Amino acid sequence: KKINILGISGSLRADSTNTIILASIGELFPEHVSFKIFQGLDKIPHFSPGLDDTEGVKKFKDAIQHAAAVIICTPEYAYGVPGTLKNALDWTVGTGDLNQKPVAAISASPLNLGGDKALASLLLTLTALGTNRNESSALSIANVKRKIESGKVTDPETIAALQAQCDNLLKLIAESAADF
Ligand code: FNR
Repeated sequence: KKINILGISGSLRADSTNTIILASIGELFPEHVSFKIFQGLDKIPHFSPGLDDTEGVKKFKDAIQHAAAVIICTPEYAYGVPGTLKNALDWTVGTGDLNQKPVAAISASPLNLGGDKALASLLLTLTALGTNRNESSALSIANVKRKIESGKVTDPETIAALQAQCDNLLKLIAESAADF
């Protein structure tokens, strides 16, 4: 049986380093994993309690529900999680779409600190959402522009760290009592 894993990029930029990392992660999974990157974070309206799910919100929730696990890779803006990503995650609070779901959280930044503040903030949100994580479920990638060439991750240490994230996620899925 194929295992569906969903990638969510916190960046909307066409040549986003975070989206490049997700694409590279997709190539590290074994054959029985179907990995897709969510398209349409920019089609999700501003969250407010009581609003009905729009098509854009339904598409996001469906993608999460059909995935056995999720990998989020995000930049840091002004020391925080991009509003687009936080907004999308806020829509899942009431319906618990990420509850018990294995999730890996990655931040990537061209700066030395690797988007560590956004990552810490994202992890708090993922805890509030009840995600299934362990001590290895987070990764911060500093100086990211030096680790990518021609639209691919080329730095061996980064590739190894991404492989470890894939392996850890598959382990969490295997151990999980929930059948997604
Ligand atoms: C940034 N960037 C940034 N980086 C960081 O590590 N901490 C930060 O607080 C910020 N703040 C910030 C604000 C604004 C307005 C911009 C435009 C940029 C740099 C950011 O990490 C960089 O642009 C990344 O390349 C964005 O990620 P993607 O689009 O390449 O995935």
